Amino acid sequence: VDLQPLNTLAIAARAAYFVRVESLEQLREALAFAQEKKLPILPLGGGSNIVLTGDYPGLVIHMALRGVSLEKDSCGTRLCAAAGENWHHLVMHTVKQGIGGLENLALIPGSMGAAPIQNIGAYGVELRDTFECLQAVHIATGELREFPAADCQFGYRDSVFKRAARDRYIITRVSLFLPNDWRPKLDYPALERHLAERGVQTGELRPADVARAVIEIRNSKLPSPDDIPNVGSFFKNPVVGADFYQNLKKSYPDLVAFPSGDGWKLAAGWLIDRAGWRGVRRNSVGVHDRQALVLVNPGGGCGAEVTSLAEEIAADIRAKFGVDLEPEPRYYP
Ligand code: EPU
Repeated sequence: VDLQPLNTLAIAARAAYFVRVESLEQLREALAFAQEKKLPILPLGGGSNIVLTGDYPGLVIHMALRGVSLEKDSCGTRLCAAAGENWHHLVMHTVKQGIGGLENLALIPGSMGAAPIQNIGAYGVELRDTFECLQAVHIATGELREFPAADCQFGYRDSVFKRAARDRYIITRVSLFLPNDWRPKLDYPALERHLAERGVQTGELRPADVARAVIEIRNSKLPSPDDIPNVGSFFKNPVVGADFYQNLKKSYPDLVAFPSGDGWKLAAGWLIDRAGWRGVRRNSVGVHDRQALVLVNPGGGCGAEVTSLAEEIAADIRAKFGVDLEPEPRYYP
């Protein structure tokens, strides 16, 4: 099967085996098949956080489990969604009913099942802020396990599914809880600025108004994968210690950074931009011209072109600023 239409970087690669699963039963059958044939597996959601570096030798499992429910109680709304549901559609489904909590996460590509793995986040909100629990299938045994929030070990673009539980579970369902006492979360500078520039009275904002602002901001600098293939931010924003930050700030007074725990989270986009990479092309691939943190594949490049550009950028940032950049998408195989 050709995986090009199934990854947002539009990299052409083939899977030795491929199955699309719509139920838990089909997922278990697929896992049993892989186990019997001793195949590695690649669970695929929206394909918006992977780089295919070559053909995949194992079984690609396209997660197409569907189903959404909204349950209201006196405190708020519980949203339960199957792994194959599109994240942005879920956000808009809640926002249209006046239910707040997910509006800052509008337009993030990908599926519900993938969202907890890297604890998706944008504009001052992360999945963990409304996360309640998830259900996942244990790959080795086919058994279902519940993961309450505490078991997920969420961090910035991080969870247990990238660490101790990596490659051991496939997420099938997620529950979020959206409390009634909603207030718009507007502390992200770009969001605050966008609303202020339009003279919006923040006291009267509804979830849909915030979602609209987030969509406008994203559309103004992040390329839609349908137009220019990409996986969003290619690197995580690196967190550095306070002393290191103070020194760097002396050399670069306009450095962009936000306090994070005991240290500072540097805007990797700013570092890459400042190093002169914004808009640079390397054969078929390149760096987006409006957001240097986004690598793009407008020319039908292969995975190796993307990863070697990423390595070149990371080496340059290390040399110029002494900072290590870590890729956000996962490389397969
Ligand atoms: N900047 C530049 N030049 C650039 C890019 C950015 O100077 O080419 C500066 C901006 O002016 C701004 C700062 O860097 O002052 C931060 O930029 P931006 O607001 O675009 O956010 P980001 O830190 O680059 C992160 C997330 C995004 C998320 C936005 C908004 C990561 C790795 N990325 O990007 O998430 O949408 O914040 O919250 O944390 C993703 O993960 O795929 C993603 C798009």
